Formats: sequence, C-alpha cells, structure tokens
Amino acid sequence: MDKTKIGLIGLGTVGSGVAQLLLDHGDRTARHAGRVLWLEKVAVRDLNRPRDCELPAGVLTDQLDEVINHPEIEVVAELMGGVDLAREVVLRSLAAGKDVVTANKALLAAHGPELCDAARKHCRTIAFEASVAGGVPIITNLSQCLSANQVTSLTGILNGTCNFILAKMHSEGTPYGQALEEAQRLGYAEADPALDVNGADTAQKLAILAHLAFGARVAWEEIPCVGIDTLDVADIQHAQQMGYVIKLLGVAELTPDGVQLSVGPTLVRRGGAMADVSGPMNAVHVRADAVGELFYQGPGAGQMPTASAVVADLIDTAAGRTRVTFQTLELWSDRSSRVEMADP
Ligand code: NDP
Ligand code: HSE
Repeated sequence: MDKTKIGLIGLGTVGSGVAQLLLDHGDRTARHAGRVLWLEKVAVRDLNRPRDCELPAGVLTDQLDEVINHPEIEVVAELMGGVDLAREVVLRSLAAGKDVVTANKALLAAHGPELCDAARKHCRTIAFEASVAGGVPIITNLSQCLSANQVTSLTGILNGTCNFILAKMHSEGTPYGQALEEAQRLGYAEADPALDVNGADTAQKLAILAHLAFGARVAWEEIPCVGIDTLDVADIQHAQQMGYVIKLLGVAELTPDGVQLSVGPTLVRRGGAMADVSGPMNAVHVRADAVGELFYQGPGAGQMPTASAVVADLIDTAAGRTRVTFQTLELWSDRSSRVEMADP
C-alpha cells in the first residue's frame, strides 16, 4: 500500500494524542485513507523533556526544518500553538509543497484568509477541524453538510476549560482558581490560560465559525467579549437560586444590520440542552433556513478528542479529500455577498 509521510510540529497534549493514534492504529487510518499514514518526523522545542508517548528511533527532532523541508513529508500538522512562529511554519510548509493540518484557532482567527490564500497559491490545502469545538465536527458540518442553507444564528459553548470550571463551581462549589488548576492539569487549557478564561479563545472560535457560516470576515478582537475570570461561587449560587446556570456563550446572529457577535457569561435556564452540557464538553446550536435547528454536542478539549479531529483531517488530506480547502474560501466570499442581500 502507498504511504503518505506525515510530520508533526508539537508533541504536547494534542501532538502526543495524534502520534499515539497514528502509531497504534495504522490499520484504521490506512483503511480510511486508502494509504498508510506514516509518522516520519516530530519537531519539539526541548528534546530532553519527558514524553508520555514513545516514538520510533530517529523520529524526534528539535529542528523545525527537518519537518518543513523534509523531501518526503507530504503533510505537516502544526500543533505547537501561538501565532507568529506558527504562521511562519505554516507558510513555509505550504511553500515547500506540503499540505497543512492545524488545531490552532488563534492562528486561524488572526491569519486564516492569508494562510488559505497561500495554500491556493501553492495548490495545497489547509484543514482545521480541531480548531473549534475539539472532537465535535462543526467545521465540516458548517462548510459542507449545511452548505445548502443560509445559517441565521449560531450559539455555542466553545471553550472546554471555561465550561469545566463553571460546571465544577456549580456542582461542587469548587473555587474558581482550584477549578482552573484542575483544567490545566487535565490538558484542557491553553499554554496561556488567560486566553480561555478572558473569553479570547471563544471569540477566536466564534470568528472562525462566523467566517464559515456567514462569510463574515471578523477581527476577533472587535467582538464584544467578557470572560468568566470575574465570576465567583456567589454569582453561581445566585444563578442557581433563580433556576439558571451560567455558561460562557459565543453568539452570532444574522440581523438586518449584518452579523452580530458577542461572547459573555450568560444565564441559561436549567433543564435545557445547553444548560446540561457539562465538564469540558462543547455545544453548538445552529439555526439555518432549510434544515431548521441543529444541536451539536461533544468533547471540546483534551488530548484524544482533539487528536480524533486532527487525525481525521490527516486521513482526508492523505486521501485527497480535505474537507475545508482553499476552494471553500471562494464560497466564503460568495456567501458574503449573499449575506448582504439576505432578508432574514
Ligand atoms: P502544548 O503546550 O501541550 O504543546 C505544544 C507543543 O509544541 C510542545 O510539544 C512543544 O515542544 C511544541 N513547541 C512549542 N514551540 C515550539 C517550537 N518553537 N519549536 C518546536 N516545537 C515547539 O499545547 P497543546 O497540545 O495543548 O495545543 C497545541 C495546539 O492545539 C494549540 O494551538 C492549541 O490551541 C490547540 N488545541 C488544543 C486543545 C487542547 O485541548 N489542549 C484542543 C484544541 C486545540 P516541547 O514539548 O518540547 O515544549
Ligand atoms: N483551551 C481550549 C478549550 C482547547 O478549553 O476549549 C480547545 O480548543
């Protein structure tokens, strides 16, 4: 069977899960891709750091170029996080003729259009299912399965760390700081957890979804945004006494004045589907004109749920059926003009 050689950049929470799936389940990935997905090289920052994932000899390197310029690697998975260096890595990988898979929502929210343009220029693809809602396939659903629709609203719990913290505060009265430490220990939080709790990560994900759903190119920093970092257990208790739970929601709505976006802690009545989303789970409620209402729910953060989405993108890329390609970008601009003409 033919092989597609894969290079990973990053072997942290997500990268270790991806390496583990590729190494332990080659039969599964080959069956779906029609070719072997071969883990050729993995770049990290610190070669001496203990790893919970055992790699074959010669695979690990601390030289990014050994992945980016490897003559036989066809697909690079950027799993290092951050924005500036990650942007350079993705642009250089595309220029070197590699397809790219990334889980990096901060990168996509800041530079998504530029990266997709570069992919188009080099006749390559970028897939990013893992960048929003972890293991929940919301990117594929919005960009493919719902493409006959005009989405009219999106409401989501898009940050697993915040949902985990809020759930702990609600159900066990755990203090905010303690719940955040636990989320970090479990691998849900960003390297800089301020991005989770101040709402920035949710705003970045909302900007990506709004781009796919409405063709709206949004500067995520301009989305009105309040985090959960000012809440304490007393706020949670008051909400509970009134029959509500507090959730950090990202909301995007098509209005006669355009697409309106916001992020903030929101009172959600107990007993409803959104209120019941617990732990590091994410959920997205979508309203669309043809299909009606849809509710997606599942693990939104953590090692294996995120690796599940990354490896699915690697399989599709190796098989030449990448789900979100530069071609979809052209649809984004078509959708954009339709949004302007729409009469919601
Ligand atoms: P980690 O911090 O756990 O891992 C980052 C990895 O990147 C480490 O292996 C690190 O190397 C490596 N790295 C960082 N800088 C460099 C560099 N300059 N050169 C080479 N390697 C480098 O992050 P996560 O795995 O949690 O997240 C990775 C990406 O996935 C981020 O974009 C994040 O937003 C996204 N994501 C994370 C999810 C999660 O649940 N954790 C869910 C969905 C998306 P070393 O190990 O040597 O330090
Ligand atoms: N830190 C992010 C979260 C990871 O907690 O949702 C998944 O994108």
